[in-house]
Amino acid sequence: MTEVSLLLPMGCSLRRACVKDMGSIRKLVLSAKLDPTQLRWQQFWVIECEGNIVACAQLRNFSGAQELGSLVVAPTWRDRGLGTALTQHLIQQATAPLYLECLGQRLPKFYSRFGFVPISGQGLPQSLKFKFAVGQLARIILRLPVEIMQYQGLRK
Ligand SMILES: CC(C)(COP(=O)(O)OP(=O)(O)OC[C@H]1O[C@@H](n2cnc3c(N)ncnc32)[C@H](O)[C@@H]1OP(=O)(O)O)[C@@H](O)C(=O)NCCC(=O)NCCS
Repeated sequence: MTEVSLLLPMGCSLRRACVKDMGSIRKLVLSAKLDPTQLRWQQFWVIECEGNIVACAQLRNFSGAQELGSLVVAPTWRDRGLGTALTQHLIQQATAPLYLECLGQRLPKFYSRFGFVPISGQGLPQSLKFKFAVGQLARIILRLPVEIMQYQGLRK
């Protein structure tokens, strides 16, 4: 994929997480009620602004696949391009077919602008079927709008 230049507000920088970021990462993920499992700092990227971690996301590794997960921007920093910058950066960092799971009507639209496309659970690699099984059960039984998406790139 071609390099995307990332636009961040002044004073913000995107970097790999380090062990001391773990508390901030956990707080962000819990505040957004996202999956609190597999929060390994080695897999995370963060955006630091004025000395605070204000956004994070990770690439979880599976056999033959990766998942873009734990994307959170602190509420006061939303709508300023941080979520876009992290998503584009993780797409660039991915080294295997890239998937994600999201809930609601707005998030699939957010991710589709980067080249993610909704797929059925059947199209998933075996290694991710188990990870996404809970979401798929919730979709079927509770009729929650849980969407699985695969990165397929942007058509020119
Ligand atoms: C989704 C989220 C990461 C977006 O981050 P952000 O930094 O505000 O996004 P950006 O500024 O880069 O992009 C803004 C765009 O995202 C859209 N957006 C903002 N919040 C959104 C949300 N909760 N869901 C979907 N889209 C959202 C805005 O409408 C805006 O669209 P526009 O450019 O057409 O106006 C952020 O709202 C968030 O942390 N939400 C809570 C956690 C979450 O749901 N994470 C996703 C898990 S799959």
